[in-house]
Amino acid sequence: MKDILPAEAVRWQRLEASYRAIVARYGYGEVRTPLLEATELFVREIGADTDVVAKEMYSFERHEDRLTVRPEGTAGCARAYVQHNVAAVEPVSRWYYFGPMFRAERPAKGRYRQFHQAGCEIYGDPGPGCDAELIDMCAEIVRALGVKAFAVHVNSIGSGPTRARYRDALRAYFEPHRAQLGEDSQRRLDVNPLRILDSKDPRDKELCAGAPTVVSVLAEDDAKHFDGLRRLLDELQVPYVVDPQLVRGLDYYTRTLFELKITSGELGAQDALLGGGRYDEMIGHLGAKKPVPAIGFAMGIERVLEVSAAADVPRGPACYFAPLSEAAHGKALALAKRLRLSGHWCEVDLRGNSMKSMLRRADAMHAALAAILGEDELAKGEVTLKSLQGGDQARVAMDALPEAVARKLAVATGAAEKATGD
Ligand code: HAM
Repeated sequence: MKDILPAEAVRWQRLEASYRAIVARYGYGEVRTPLLEATELFVREIGADTDVVAKEMYSFERHEDRLTVRPEGTAGCARAYVQHNVAAVEPVSRWYYFGPMFRAERPAKGRYRQFHQAGCEIYGDPGPGCDAELIDMCAEIVRALGVKAFAVHVNSIGSGPTRARYRDALRAYFEPHRAQLGEDSQRRLDVNPLRILDSKDPRDKELCAGAPTVVSVLAEDDAKHFDGLRRLLDELQVPYVVDPQLVRGLDYYTRTLFELKITSGELGAQDALLGGGRYDEMIGHLGAKKPVPAIGFAMGIERVLEVSAAADVPRGPACYFAPLSEAAHGKALALAKRLRLSGHWCEVDLRGNSMKSMLRRADAMHAALAAILGEDELAKGEVTLKSLQGGDQARVAMDALPEAVARKLAVATGAAEKATGD
């Protein structure tokens, strides 16, 4: 679990703002659910034999309640969707969330015990058009956040009868090798052989590589859905790979599965930036009056920040006030107050340091402008306004400072945009 100090938090804010702006254009509204849910919700929906439920949940009992600090967002959103009977109000709902999740995993690069997800869930659309639109949006989000080297992996796990057939096929494949499997996988062979495919045990990995894939047992309807998804991804010009090994580690999925993986190797084994899929059975399972199809994804914020260049653009104060004597402190504070009221970030240096030292600090903070108040400026009711990028400076009447700052900032922003080609 990590602290996020202010210099780092700025990157988080930028990422969150880009994310919110993109999903708003697709019509998603924000949902905020509690960090605590009944343990039973996760056990039933994610599955008792998954690593998340069997090994990683922070669960406790208080009074009569068995509670868990959420390891993911999908189950809580679905619980809220059913509890508030949202299906009765609108046929299709698009929700997004942003927040901390908790899993007691073995910490590694890109894997934390408190981490953050930005996710989306769509209720009421059976796809495959909405699946394609969602996957395309995920690629847009990741690109907008400055990640260049990634690949979209897709697969289908089929619906209920397909999964039952697939379980039988896996059991038949693994049974003759039972003794070679790790202890966890031997137990899973009896209860949920699909979960053997998530195993990180090297003994299991070799066997898993030769296991039958679900595509070979897909029912006709499932295959049609998957074909439709691929055709639409082609039409949207989203490059993707069909990855028959992709099963994802949560039991609730039906049909479409997808992941966006970083291809630069920077994150080692934790290469999934985001993952998601369809879960058409969960809403009915949770006691809704009628079943509602659903699909969603969640993106790991820490992982994106580790590989994203876009979040690094430094941003500093609009104006750094450098009063050269104590007599100028009051004027500097009053002028900064006026600028702040017009929406500008201002810093006032009241440490009594030399001009050189104050300007060095302004540079280090990436300030756009410095406002210098010396003896002569005070006497004439003026300020020296210095552009810290261009170096040019001019005397400005104190009363005209807000307009002069706005003008200079517009010039500076225009030049920066020209330089980056925006
Ligand atoms: P997930 O694959 O378990 O899916 O997690 C989604 C993403 O969260 C991962 O791809 C990864 O980037 C990030 N993540 C997961 N665990 C950690 C960790 N310990 N440390 C850092 N990052 C992590 C879900 O959670 C599903 N609820 C996604 C979904 C939404 N499916 C349908 N709707």
